[in-house]
Amino acid sequence: MPPRNPNDPITRRLQAVNEWIYGIKRSGHYLFHIPVEDQTQGAWVTVQGRRMLMMATYSYLGLIGHPRLAQAACEAARRYGTGSHGARGLSGTLPIHLELEKTIAEFKGTEAAIVFPTGYVTNVSTIASLVGRGDYIISDKYNHASLVDGAVMSGAKLLRYKHNDLDMLERRLKAVPEGAGKLIIADAVFSMDGDILDLPRVVELARKYDAWLMVDEAHSGGVLGKTGRGIEEHFGMPGVIDIKMGTLSKAIPSMGGYIAADEWIVHAIRHSARGYIFTGAMSPVVAAVALEGLRILQEEPWRVAKLQANTERFIRGLRERGFDILQTQTPVVPIMARGLDMVMALTRAVMKRGLFILPVVAPAVPEGQERLRATVTAAHEPEDIDFALEVLTEAADEVGLPRGQAAAAG
Ligand SMILES: Cc1ncc(COP(=O)(O)O)c(C=O)c1O
Repeated sequence: MPPRNPNDPITRRLQAVNEWIYGIKRSGHYLFHIPVEDQTQGAWVTVQGRRMLMMATYSYLGLIGHPRLAQAACEAARRYGTGSHGARGLSGTLPIHLELEKTIAEFKGTEAAIVFPTGYVTNVSTIASLVGRGDYIISDKYNHASLVDGAVMSGAKLLRYKHNDLDMLERRLKAVPEGAGKLIIADAVFSMDGDILDLPRVVELARKYDAWLMVDEAHSGGVLGKTGRGIEEHFGMPGVIDIKMGTLSKAIPSMGGYIAADEWIVHAIRHSARGYIFTGAMSPVVAAVALEGLRILQEEPWRVAKLQANTERFIRGLRERGFDILQTQTPVVPIMARGLDMVMALTRAVMKRGLFILPVVAPAVPEGQERLRATVTAAHEPEDIDFALEVLTEAADEVGLPRGQAAAAG
């Protein structure tokens, strides 16, 4: 390619990103894209030739590397091949897609379900088919980027409320003009803070103001509720969410996203969501792994119980040691460092002791809210949780991270 004019706006934009990232690399703060070389031996993985305890994973149920998933992938590849002939609406639908959608609907207790190539695309294209110009979306400020991007793409007016401030949500609902469509969107488990949406109160407000409710269960599927069915099971409120969204890339270690809802809603989404209509069908290999993952989840409820016990042990241990972990109640555990230099020093100190946890920095969280985000899984043993607590305590002492009263004050 010939050299670009350095004043061209596209060149300038790309160069600005590169300068920003090169700056981070020069400062030694770039800890991203580190390849995990072996991840099939449970909670302990190999990174850069070293065995490390994995606590930076979405595989909440410890299913990555499960032999039944590998077998399902091989069988699907032999039966169907690896791809599809086209988009789902044309020549791309295979029996395995229909079986996966039926299984998801049964699991989520809805009439129907539809799958998309990723969770991100699920959110973006579903929101854009539910609302449009003249409608209103009311969204928690800490919602995942895919919900925000869907809101922007839809053309509806986006009203945000302070994280978990449901009085502000109510004020926002009151402000919507008479006759406009209203959609409340929220994460069930907030992906950076690990706290749980107050579903009873949000449902009450949705009903009071005749709003639709869409909940993103990316981090609650397989995690919340006695059998891992998610936030409705956690609160004992079956069937209260209009649009249940989930991913197949986290507790279920495949790829894809889904919407589970009433049949007439799913039918309309299937025939209007651009991220479903204008894209190739999910690979049958991916679909088969997701399907088998859902079966294992239902046949092995001990995984959900173990995940919840491990989570409890880790959270209790961190609180006893005075770490600031916000209001988390889930396997998503923020360990607040509140400062770029501090979070990077802490990351290095835990990594050198054999614990793989990654930092979360701006723009994923506001500046000053930098943290390690540790995740607990069913693959961890209680001794692994204790090892992590010990490493974190030693690392915090080494880098001078405030704990106890001082952390609470920070
Ligand atoms: C809350 C939330 N929603 C949606 C997504 C997107 O899902 P996927 O990774 O399947 O595209 C993520 C991914 O991290 C997420 O955390």
